[in-house]
Amino acid sequence: MTNQSAQLIIEGKSYDIPIVESTTGERALDIRQLLKQTGYITFDSGYMNTGSCQSAVTYLDGKNGILRYRGYDIEDLATNCLFIEVAYLLLTGELPTQSELEKFRHDMIRFALIHEDMIHFFDHFPPNSSPMSILSTMVGSLHDFYPEMDLDEDPYGGVTTMTARLLSKIRTIAAFSYKKNIGHPLVYPRADLSYCGNFLNMMFDRPNMPYKVDPIAVSALNKLLILHADHEQNCSTSTVRLVGSAGVRLYPSISAGISALWGPLHGGANAAVVRMLETIQADNMDYMKYINKAKDPNDSYRLTGFGHRVYKTYDPRAKLIKQACTEVLNSLNVQDPLLDLAQEIEHVVSNDDYFISRNLYPNVDFYSGIIYRALGIPTNMFTVMFALGRLPGWITHWQEMHMDKESSRIGRPRQVYTGVVSRPFVSLEDR
Ligand code: CMC
Repeated sequence: MTNQSAQLIIEGKSYDIPIVESTTGERALDIRQLLKQTGYITFDSGYMNTGSCQSAVTYLDGKNGILRYRGYDIEDLATNCLFIEVAYLLLTGELPTQSELEKFRHDMIRFALIHEDMIHFFDHFPPNSSPMSILSTMVGSLHDFYPEMDLDEDPYGGVTTMTARLLSKIRTIAAFSYKKNIGHPLVYPRADLSYCGNFLNMMFDRPNMPYKVDPIAVSALNKLLILHADHEQNCSTSTVRLVGSAGVRLYPSISAGISALWGPLHGGANAAVVRMLETIQADNMDYMKYINKAKDPNDSYRLTGFGHRVYKTYDPRAKLIKQACTEVLNSLNVQDPLLDLAQEIEHVVSNDDYFISRNLYPNVDFYSGIIYRALGIPTNMFTVMFALGRLPGWITHWQEMHMDKESSRIGRPRQVYTGVVSRPFVSLEDR
């Protein structure tokens, strides 16, 4: 809280609105007492101007393209860390020491199996079920298979059995959902493999074709997961907080977050980008047709993978992913015409006034799908990959929300009612 305030004048009466300041100097009008003081609410659809909580997890400066987790620059973390180190950082606020990392690594192995009864669930989804619906269902059901403890029952520095269990099990569930989808036998987690190595092995190992964990693939996946690990109050994270604020426990709150992520305007965009590129490829590579459609005010078509609510410059994650994309494809010796197509589209769009004037740059989803394709991950699993990455962020925000009395108040926006004011009831015979 600063000592300053803003003056709000309504119908000639003046009100003091306190100003709060973030640790990086951004200022916000504190309207928590507004309704009580003035009788007015604010109207802000899409929450374009609304700070929903105070948070010490992630700093994002959309104007200058800066993203930091717990104060560390995203590029340093993506270049130097393991995904589980970053998960630990988000959860606890600090990077782990060697012994803390060992313990956390051990937990990832200890909790990797899922209850065998859960496996029957997979059998009863219809063929070609979306891995996102499977993931959301299975994560919600962890609530019953692993009754959740109180938040502070067994924490060790911000990590609880509940959170470590979820972080480990989600990749087993994700890989099993893929195996069930293609009708192959399940591959169980191994104690000798890393977090990412284990996931890739569970995805690609087959009885007749043993998978050799490729360090290039492990490193690419590790980087992608880190770059997706948190993004402050985005749609799915806000969903996790909102659902959690009603007193819903961790696993079902995360299940709700997975559903929110699924949307093509959010995490579903990575799969939608590849589908868009494939459509353009099949349409004689006529990308200008699609760029023009996206610019047409009478056409609702959008160029997926461009634009962001908060970045008004190049998304720093997209910058790193674009760089990684070329490196990974070169190292794996993969030629993907979709990469050339994506680069051509970016080139045209970055010189086009429509996109320049609206600050529409590639976002995190524009190039990530091309890396997933190179790793052999099918398009319908892309958003699941986003969920694996975003999980530590979701858990951290859920925990932070519960620890802060103020933001753990049940989330309950108001509305500006536009319906009929009141009318006399008409009985069924008279309608
Ligand atoms: N292609 C063409 N025009 C666009 C696009 C696009 N991808 N995105 C925004 N615009 C235009 C939009 O039509 C509007 O134009 P006008 O001012 O003439 O009406 C203007 O830009 C502002 O758009 P908006 O819808 O008000 O912006 P928003 O902040 O509500 O939406 C967005 C952000 C990400 C939903 C949007 O840019 C979009 O739909 N992008 C495509 C989907 C996508 O790639 N989503 C992934 C986002 S990154 C992953 C994540 O963090 O979730």
